[in-house]
Amino acid sequence: MSWVVDSTLNWFQYAIIKLLKKGHVPKHIAFIMDGNRRYAKRSNAKTIEGHSKGFDKLAETLQWCLDLGVREVTVYAFSIENFKRTEEEVNGLMDLARAKFKRLIEEKDKLNEKGIRIRIIGNIELLPSDLIASFKEAMHITKDNTEGFLNVAFSYTSRDEMVETSRILIDGLRTNKITNEDVTMDLFDKCLYTGTSPEPDLIIRTSGETRLSDFMLVQSKSSFLYFCHKLWPEFTAWNLINAVFAFQYDFYTNEMWRADKSKSLTSAGEAFVNELYSKRDEYIANPQCNLQHGI
Ligand code: FPP
Ligand code: MG
Repeated sequence: MSWVVDSTLNWFQYAIIKLLKKGHVPKHIAFIMDGNRRYAKRSNAKTIEGHSKGFDKLAETLQWCLDLGVREVTVYAFSIENFKRTEEEVNGLMDLARAKFKRLIEEKDKLNEKGIRIRIIGNIELLPSDLIASFKEAMHITKDNTEGFLNVAFSYTSRDEMVETSRILIDGLRTNKITNEDVTMDLFDKCLYTGTSPEPDLIIRTSGETRLSDFMLVQSKSSFLYFCHKLWPEFTAWNLINAVFAFQYDFYTNEMWRADKSKSLTSAGEAFVNELYSKRDEYIANPQCNLQHGI
């Protein structure tokens, strides 16, 4: 299946979504797509077929989010912990990613028409070099799009991201680009892989598990968490509608959402962050360029 699919909403779901759009729509939704292997087992299929169905659901869900007017979506596609799975499953997931990113590059016109920018977040240097090259190309060919953002967390864990962020700050201190006084919580947030994104308003995890499993632990500090019993390949537009409805109820009844979420940096902090983002842009623009601290 392609990354860009036609909407599968029925007229009634369209009508409900139109209603939800009158309220506060989450700017950013993150998904922990869990339950692919249980789905495969239940369907007497191979594990990798469960993951493949999981990809199809990702493409369908992305379109529902666009229908809803959600500007940014992040999906947890491959955790660093997943490297501990069997060789067969890890290789299967790498091959699936190879095939899907090849497809993405082939259909770049469709993505560019919709204005969707693809970003990979994670410690991608742990991945095979051909896959890194595909990821870089996908980020490169969509880099000027600003209508929507799809962040694919691949070779990601939040603790690894925090370690990399700490290393970025330590480098900055060592080279006197910043001082102790410049190191603040807001600077830390801005140096995360997701530094340019708003924090997710809503995080949805499927399969009945009620944990974050090392996903966006810093960014989720005030996210609304929604746990759904469906296995990821069985996730439906109704499940998404229920999650957004629950989010909106929380939004209109909880003072917390009114808190000022803007970030402020010292001038040295600001310059440091701008230099970091330029390095990340250069990495995406230049196939020969290596990255020191994940992306
Ligand atoms: C969790 O289910 C899912 C994964 C570890 C992989 C998710 C990957 C996809 C949906 C495909 C995405 C692909 C690309 C190219 C972006 P699980 O394996 O933990 O299943 P279980 O909880 O039933 O064991
Ligand atoms: Mg699981």
